[in-house]
Amino acid sequence: MTQKLSAGYINVPVPKDIDIKSEINRLRKEKNAVILAHYYQTGDLQDIADFVGDSLALAQWAAKTEADIIVLCGVHFMGETAKIICPDKKVLVPDLNAGCSLADSCPADQFSAFVKQHPDHTVISYVNTTAAVKAVTDVVVTSTNAKQIVDSFPADAKIIFGPDRNLGNYINSITGRNMLLWDGACHVHEQFSLEKILALKKEYPEAEIITHPECKQPIIQVSDFVGSTAALLRHTIESDKKQFIVATESGIIHKMQKSSPAKQFIPAPPNDSTCACNECSFMRLNTMEKLYNCLKYELPEIFVDETVQKEAIKPIRRMLDLSAKLGL
Ligand code: 13P
Ligand code: SF4
Repeated sequence: MTQKLSAGYINVPVPKDIDIKSEINRLRKEKNAVILAHYYQTGDLQDIADFVGDSLALAQWAAKTEADIIVLCGVHFMGETAKIICPDKKVLVPDLNAGCSLADSCPADQFSAFVKQHPDHTVISYVNTTAAVKAVTDVVVTSTNAKQIVDSFPADAKIIFGPDRNLGNYINSITGRNMLLWDGACHVHEQFSLEKILALKKEYPEAEIITHPECKQPIIQVSDFVGSTAALLRHTIESDKKQFIVATESGIIHKMQKSSPAKQFIPAPPNDSTCACNECSFMRLNTMEKLYNCLKYELPEIFVDETVQKEAIKPIRRMLDLSAKLGL
């Protein structure tokens, strides 16, 4: 079957006469597999998953699951993180082409050279990085715990923060730090148009603008709430407001709408109105058909070099321990 993997996913047509949802349910039971999905996956994948969460919750779930197989419906670094945490489990992603432009903006060799130039700095890396970048990192963070983990270091600590310059700038602004930032970014979150968001706000004056910290500073500055996908979702559930302009990947709206059916969620528009640039093209590569084939053939599988795994687990473990201590 590996020859059918040349496309990065199992390229075999799914029989038309099967009920794909019941087949996925049968396979996951039979194989003791757990399906974890990120909030940016399409609604059908979120609905069939055993668990849907943000990057931190996916890593925490991987750390505690007793399943033999983890199928990660998300992007490559999420599967890789699960594999680093669980080197003895089989970790699958439905489509290996599901990369991340932010992780790609931080090549490991260049980042390592940058780290070597600043030997007196603590290295804090966002989870959206390759295993090789994590291997030269002191502590990994996600958007849920970045502020608290940065705060856990002495005020005068010298810190390198990579790879997201927008998240780094935001954390600098709310912690009063001056961390040295890697110049990376996510192609989805960089695309949102301030002008169009402000025009939407005029149209819906009661709406709150809620924003992921990977967005650029001018958008963060006009936002009513800034947080990780999980924090944004929680905010929409807890808030008295009835309308929200959502400045992050639009997949999160599926869960927001399900959790608060009476509220209105308006996706923030990208600069280019001819594209669906507020959708992560990588996340959207995963489909129900690819998930079915992935469970059936147990491919494609994520592998991490053993030496890299042994280094990369340290900053991830540190993040998981600190998050547990912080009650996150
Ligand atoms: P969260 O950890 O907030 O879900 O973010 C992941 C991500 O890739 C954002 O683009
Ligand atoms: Fe990466 Fe951006 Fe997609 Fe998140 S939305 S997975 S940061 S490319």
